[in-house]
Amino acid sequence: MFKVSYYIFLICNFPYYLFSQKITFTEHIAPIIHQNCTPCHRSGEVGPFSLITYEDVAKRGKFIQKVTESRYMPPWRADHDFAEFKDVRKLTLGQISLIRLWVQDGMPLGPNINLPIPTFNAGTQLKEKPDLSLRINKLFKIPSENKEEYYLFSLPTNLKENKFVKAIEFRAGNKKLVHHSRISVDTTQLMRITDGKSIDDSTIAKYGKVKMKDEFWSGWVPGNNPIVYPDGVAKQLSAGSDLSVNIHYAPNLLPNEIDSSFVNLYFAKEPIKYDLKTFILFEKDITNPPFEIPADTVITFYAKSVELPYELTMLSVQPHMHLLGKSLRSFAITPGGDLIPLIKISNWDFDWQMTYQFKEEQKIPFGSIIYAEVTYDNTSKNPRNSFSPPQRILSGWNSTQEMFNLIFQYIVK
Ligand code: HEC
Repeated sequence: MFKVSYYIFLICNFPYYLFSQKITFTEHIAPIIHQNCTPCHRSGEVGPFSLITYEDVAKRGKFIQKVTESRYMPPWRADHDFAEFKDVRKLTLGQISLIRLWVQDGMPLGPNINLPIPTFNAGTQLKEKPDLSLRINKLFKIPSENKEEYYLFSLPTNLKENKFVKAIEFRAGNKKLVHHSRISVDTTQLMRITDGKSIDDSTIAKYGKVKMKDEFWSGWVPGNNPIVYPDGVAKQLSAGSDLSVNIHYAPNLLPNEIDSSFVNLYFAKEPIKYDLKTFILFEKDITNPPFEIPADTVITFYAKSVELPYELTMLSVQPHMHLLGKSLRSFAITPGGDLIPLIKISNWDFDWQMTYQFKEEQKIPFGSIIYAEVTYDNTSKNPRNSFSPPQRILSGWNSTQEMFNLIFQYIVK
């Protein structure tokens, strides 16, 4: 039997305002859209259409209701309950129901109030202008061979002195075809000869072995935020360094597609205490090798780091798999047996491989071990399987092969 007080509680807490007040675009919906959708859905950004005006939004009302209810948009694939990250993109249940009720009610426009239209800078998502912008060579013509292409670009910084980078932002030129990019720091200048060449070009094969200072400084996928390091932290870039940028282009059939992607760098104005470092768990750390995915199987690999030789303060994590990726989970176990959750993604999405920045610095004590479990689905039930019937898949750069990378950025305090 429910107590009377329970009914009183229900009566008092029922959201009557949803009935008494009409939900309108100008009063309720626009603020949600402008804050959560417009940063990507405006001209020059990665979203395929603008979501700013009443017409933009009302035209796609049902679709917007669907993608917000399923939490497909705003894109964010990490589990909110496992580990907490900064700049989370998430609508509250209340915001999602406001959108649903508004759509069901015929999408009323509402009173003519002066809507503040959000303003953004051109060429960057950040508030300030970059200190240095480095653009890939001229206008790069993307081959039209209808296959995936990986191209290397070498961008000399021409820095005369060492600099500390506070923030880095990759800006895709050709938004249709640039699928993702990976930025390394080359202090040898040997990679200059690879500029504008395919990674399959046999004349540059030996440059695959050049030892770069940072094999993986920063990775970008559509929708990745610029990475701004916390106060006192920066990435040291020594004088004369080049950026070696590896860009993955989606298959292209058109003859005149060009790209002119660029990288924005912001230098530290204040003194820097900590130099940013990278730690990667990858295929060779797998404890149940070989890293091979037989046809018609769902298979889980387990990876394990060495015992950490000192305490790491983790700032961000970026997982990387290809089209067979299904789910992943990573955590650390301390010498005392405590579990520190790092990241969990239950529905891996090849298109949204973001860099997740921890909400609080994650201290991983000396002697801890970092573990990861990664599952791949190589059955015909995986709609993104490149092969029908499924085939045995080995490791490799192409999306039709597989990879496993878990890239952590950390500092040592
Ligand atoms: C981080 C950038 C980003 C944000 C934030 C974002 N979108 Fe998107 N959106 C995209 C991109 C890129 C695509 C196209 C690729 C895709 O469908 O995944 C897209 C696709 C869509 C689609 C089409 C989906 C389809 O299946 O074709 C809808 C509708 C949409 N977004 C609505 C929204 C709404 C509503 C919000 C805010 C609640 C939002 N988006 C926030 C980047 C974003």
